Amino acid sequence: MGIVVLGTGSCLPKRVMTNVDLESIVDTNDEWIRSRTGIESRHIGGKDEQTFKLAAKASLKALESAGVAADEIGLIVVGTISSHMQMPSTACFVQNEIGANKAFAYDLNAACSGFLYGLDLAHKYILADHGMKILVIGAETLSSRLDWNDRNTCILFGDGAGAVVLGYSEDDRGIVGTNLLSDGSLWELLHMHGPESANPELKVEGYSGAFIRMEGREVFKHAVRAMEDSVTTLLAREGLTIDDVSLVIPHQANIRILNKLIDRLKVSQDKVFINVSKCGNTSAASIPIALDDANRQGLIAKDDLILFCSFGGGFTWGAALIKW
Ligand code: UT7
Repeated sequence: MGIVVLGTGSCLPKRVMTNVDLESIVDTNDEWIRSRTGIESRHIGGKDEQTFKLAAKASLKALESAGVAADEIGLIVVGTISSHMQMPSTACFVQNEIGANKAFAYDLNAACSGFLYGLDLAHKYILADHGMKILVIGAETLSSRLDWNDRNTCILFGDGAGAVVLGYSEDDRGIVGTNLLSDGSLWELLHMHGPESANPELKVEGYSGAFIRMEGREVFKHAVRAMEDSVTTLLAREGLTIDDVSLVIPHQANIRILNKLIDRLKVSQDKVFINVSKCGNTSAASIPIALDDANRQGLIAKDDLILFCSFGGGFTWGAALIKW
């Protein structure tokens, strides 16, 4: 028996912003961005493409591919760091948008690891209640949280949403294991303040606006090491090796991070799904968008072992294995 992915879906905003478009916004160029990040373009939300709208569209596609009706969903979890409002949660907006009127709903903040954290908690809910079906979503409009004068960050991120429907199956497929970790001591290297405090006593020291701030080089080093460690630990714990894995779907942060990871894991390049060139880093949405992309391209077959790994602000990181 196992907790299986019944369906996948994703949604990207219509507008595509290329590296050349960015040249007129900050002092950068296409060659620098391509060679340092592997990104060629990213999608940027426009009218009616708020985080919850993208999430709802991705969810409807996932429900359709699962053959599950919205009112069969018991829980909606949205991993996001760019929620539509501070309150209510983006998950509640999604519930309303798709008519999942029997679900309870909440958001989860684990930055770029939000989808894997959501997958893990859905796994545990369904283990406790086999009748439950859960929508796990990663959704972001990071374009609304970027300092468009900061070339260190604004070139990296994009908007989008991905979703999966999870449910119980009697056969031996499903989530094999997860290995999630956090280290709050390194928060400063990658963070985003909220709205400025209305209480003068609670003003945040060094407040620099509600934008993503990052020490790129440091994040890079930690990301490679952390993802490698979480993957090797998980594989060892499950008595598996990288050769047992059919497809790796990593967080799409940067092609150089992914290439280093590929070297260290000694996995062949053609077993790693990469779409960072056209989406950029979509934080919590990156893995479920890539998963849906791979699934719809027919790259995943029944019984394939799929490996996910992520790294993000917090720091949060981890890995997950699913027998499809
Ligand atoms: O989900 C996890 C989220 N974060 C990440 O994945 C990011 C991880 N880090 C990275 O991907 C890389 O550190 C970056 C792509 C952000 C930066 O690449 P880098 O090779 O580490 O460059 P750097 O920050 O060391 O900067 C090198 C130079 C600097 O100029 P000087 O001081 O050498 O003259 C920067 O000012 O490149 C300059 N630079 C740029 N030039 C053109 C920084 N950003 C840009 C830019 N265009 N957009």
